[in-house]
Amino acid sequence: MKINNWSGLMAKDLDSRVNDFNSSIAFDKRLFRQDIAGSAAHAAMLGARGIIAPEEADAILRGLEAISHDFSAGLLVFPPDAEDVHMFVEAELTARIGDAGKRLHTARSRNDQVALDFRLYVLTALGEVSDATLELMDVLLSLCERHLNTVMPGYTHLQRAQPITLAHHLAAWAEMLRRDVTRLEDARARADECPLGSGALAGTTYPIDRDSVKAALGFARLSPNSLDGVADRDFALEALSCLSIVMVHLSRMAEEVVLWCSHEFGFCSLDDAYSTGSSIMPQKKNPDVAELVRGKSGRVFGSLMALLTVMKGLPLAYNKDMQEDKEAVFDAFDTVLLCLRTFAPMVETLSFHPEVMRASASLGYLNATDCADYLVKKGLPFREAYGVTGRLVRHCLTGGCALEALSLETLRQLSPLFEADVYDALSLDACVRGRAVSGGPAPEAVSAHLTALRGFMEERRR
Ligand code: ARG
Repeated sequence: MKINNWSGLMAKDLDSRVNDFNSSIAFDKRLFRQDIAGSAAHAAMLGARGIIAPEEADAILRGLEAISHDFSAGLLVFPPDAEDVHMFVEAELTARIGDAGKRLHTARSRNDQVALDFRLYVLTALGEVSDATLELMDVLLSLCERHLNTVMPGYTHLQRAQPITLAHHLAAWAEMLRRDVTRLEDARARADECPLGSGALAGTTYPIDRDSVKAALGFARLSPNSLDGVADRDFALEALSCLSIVMVHLSRMAEEVVLWCSHEFGFCSLDDAYSTGSSIMPQKKNPDVAELVRGKSGRVFGSLMALLTVMKGLPLAYNKDMQEDKEAVFDAFDTVLLCLRTFAPMVETLSFHPEVMRASASLGYLNATDCADYLVKKGLPFREAYGVTGRLVRHCLTGGCALEALSLETLRQLSPLFEADVYDALSLDACVRGRAVSGGPAPEAVSAHLTALRGFMEERRR
């Protein structure tokens, strides 16, 4: 039975089932470091302001330091029946230093305390995800630099459409990730507000110095409204939205890895260290890493939905429902970091098969648009050129041959505009080289994109 020591109000001890139900220590112990940092900044400010005696503030700081030290040494035991990490740290402090510990919670509530701790956690974790995303971008850019001339089919509707290069395709992945990094940074900048001083909901009557606490903890701004300071979980929702979009991207990349590693595509093979076998079929090499990345997107989207649902009906300010924010956010960050850190080396160690990609790009009339464009350059309106080429493709389909396999005579039966230079225009390399428009697959266009992406990453290394 847990002693119910809430201010002497309750006449009975807390039912142990309620204690278990209510307790969050099992998961919010992950906020231990943030809780210590927040409490230290708060105590130092209370001492500097003379709200508590400077000696008491010093005793608190030394006590927090000692608890932190024991934590690092693995000596701190979190009692499973403690209500949460905040109550535990305060109780532990008081047990160690005596009465001074009882002064720590002056001018503070667990409502602004948890808002602070959780924000600090989210700010750090957003930075970690940005870094891991940049690592994956780095892997992709190195591959791009090696495959500027590796021709492969580009798809729409998963039907072979127009020739591109592997560099162009992987740079598209990198561009998705570049947006993710900027989104994570934007979310981080918006979350960068110190809520401490909001109290339970209505601030405090003590002459606290919110600015010094903000500066000590490295925040950019103060939260401007005490009610919002404790009621807001937008920073967590935004983080989960950003993480969900990262997972959409990883999942789409993973899906392509699965396809490309299939016998049907054969564009690449997984390194043995990143492939798994079958318990029955000795020949199998399975892309489990890519599949799990694709699959784990579900739990991250689930966390976003869970927290949106928790928050949507809550009256201001704090409600206990909000304790449900943590597991969703912790799990989402853990999952995304795990996925990024496994997916990157898996992609890095893929062996690509340029000859298979090129062969695949040369079947399926991927140069049909270029054939129409050839006629347009000779003066035919595009819609007519499109019709001529369509008829040519139909003709080829009956004979099972490629456009460039038709004789000039046959071509000229459909349009007298065809001349001997058509064969150059229809070659895969010409089709790729010709698309030198900014953002296109031509090697110089992709190179320019890669330079921009490298610049983006360079700015973040500084
Ligand atoms: N464990 C609580 C949470 O995670 C801390 C805040 C409790 N505040 C309160 N008024 N009961 O939300």
